[in-house]
Amino acid sequence: MEKLNVAVIGVGIYGIHHVDVYKQNPFVELTAVCDFSADIRKMAEEKYGVRTYETVEELLDSEKLDAVSIATPDHLHVEPALACINHGLNVLIEKPLAITVADCKSIMDAAEKNNVRVAVDFHKRWDPAAIYTFNQLNESENGYPIRGYMNMDDMIDVPTKWFKWGNSSDPVDFLGVHCVDLMRWYMGCEVTEVYSVGSKKLLPSMGVDTYDSVQSMITFENGCTWMLENSWVLPSGFAKANDSRTSILTSEKYIRINNQDRGVEMVDNEKSHTPNVFFFNDFNNKVVGFGADPINSFVDCLIDGSDFVADVYDGLQAARVTEAIHKSLEIGDRVKL
Ligand SMILES: NC(=O)c1ccc[n+]([C@@H]2O[C@H](COP(=O)([O-])OP(=O)(O)OC[C@H]3O[C@@H](n4cnc5c(N)ncnc54)[C@H](O)[C@@H]3O)[C@@H](O)[C@H]2O)c1
Repeated sequence: MEKLNVAVIGVGIYGIHHVDVYKQNPFVELTAVCDFSADIRKMAEEKYGVRTYETVEELLDSEKLDAVSIATPDHLHVEPALACINHGLNVLIEKPLAITVADCKSIMDAAEKNNVRVAVDFHKRWDPAAIYTFNQLNESENGYPIRGYMNMDDMIDVPTKWFKWGNSSDPVDFLGVHCVDLMRWYMGCEVTEVYSVGSKKLLPSMGVDTYDSVQSMITFENGCTWMLENSWVLPSGFAKANDSRTSILTSEKYIRINNQDRGVEMVDNEKSHTPNVFFFNDFNNKVVGFGADPINSFVDCLIDGSDFVADVYDGLQAARVTEAIHKSLEIGDRVKL
């Protein structure tokens, strides 16, 4: 069988996972990567034996591709996405699809016009705990959800040390968008109203002008109300780079998930770690886990023509909610969708 020619654009902290997964996928020829950083391009040439390009234009001019992954920073998805889509390529875009509704719409319109397919890497949908929850909520004929709670927080190192672009995103666009997508998936309907409050104090004092924390009350069409909390300022001493918990009360069930505790604890001379062993793990020199699954699923769907698990419409709908959260923070009032 002929392989799909694929490239990865943006090979930083997360894009490297796309590279690893494509490299081992038997239906993919990872032909090239594209990144502004000369160090990253050198690493990719040496470690992966792929051709490298500094700009998307050079990549598209030089390579004959079927699909690309885009893992550039949150606020820099739209430009490479439109260039690739207008070049006739299928695209897997890291979450968030884009950080404004207008940009998401332009990606969706371009995909329709060029007859190409766009998937969004909302990888939490592949988390076994989320799949279990989705199935529990959907197997009941008469039950209905009453209330939900979800938080997803990162330790303060993420916006202050990991990223150079913390100022251009925030806990809502980086983390909240995952939660909103999961909630939409669980509820099977759309958000009707959002009310948010937030604080901006600690990160600005450290030179990162963005929200420390945002809390949102979110109402869905089915009447279920959710409390969503997202923060970027967990202390560095926390046992994992992030914390996430969910609870859902329905008329028949009470489901609680503690994503911080994946059942493994490891202590070294610095601190105690609780690694997410289900996300990315190495097994027999293969990357396995729910971080790898959506990238392999993108390939499968391109080959067999089946629907993406999370597509451009899901990306757009999630952005409608995160944009409403930002609007609510700005005006200090409820925002109807
Ligand atoms: N870091 C994480 O834990 C994580 C987890 C899940 C998803 N993501 C998502 O992945 C995306 C990337 O995040 P990251 O943490 O890897 O960021 P990063 O800053 O580590 O990497 C981004 C890379 O993109 C490159 N780049 C930017 N614009 C480019 C362009 N137009 N052409 C070529 N290269 C370009 C930069 O040089 C950089 O190497 C974000 O949307 C983020 O939300 C990150």
